[in-house]
Amino acid sequence: KRILIINGPNLNLLGKREPSIYGDISFEDFFQRLKDKNGVELSYFQSNVEGEIIDKLHEVGFSFDGIILNAGGYTHTSVSIADAIAAISSPVIEVHLSNVYAREEYRHNSLIAKNCVGVISGFGLDSYSLAIDYFGAK
Ligand code: DQA
Repeated sequence: KRILIINGPNLNLLGKREPSIYGDISFEDFFQRLKDKNGVELSYFQSNVEGEIIDKLHEVGFSFDGIILNAGGYTHTSVSIADAIAAISSPVIEVHLSNVYAREEYRHNSLIAKNCVGVISGFGLDSYSLAIDYFGAK
């Protein structure tokens, strides 16, 4: 199974960025462990640019078996990313490291959730592992 993880804005700073919320492990280190652990073909893309995330969704969204998307702050603002998810055929899982419902009110609304298979929020880096388990078992 071909699965792509897409991380949106500021997630390139994982490990350095507000470690009390997002942990102290970089995504690259975590990704190496993920690749060893699972029997799926995983790839990873990160961008701070909304249009690049949309381009990547278009590029893989008709051939990959699943997309795991942490859209960062765009989760709460981006009609265009929501539209891109609706436009493609690959299933998308929305993930978050933090429990967005335990945080500021403006993080409680996701514009993209309704176009996703489901949402995993609050399990730190395990949020990604849980999403991979779902696609792996499909
Ligand atoms: C996040 C939660 C978002 O509200 C925030 O803007 C992020 C990270 C998370 O993984 O917990 O950048 O998506």
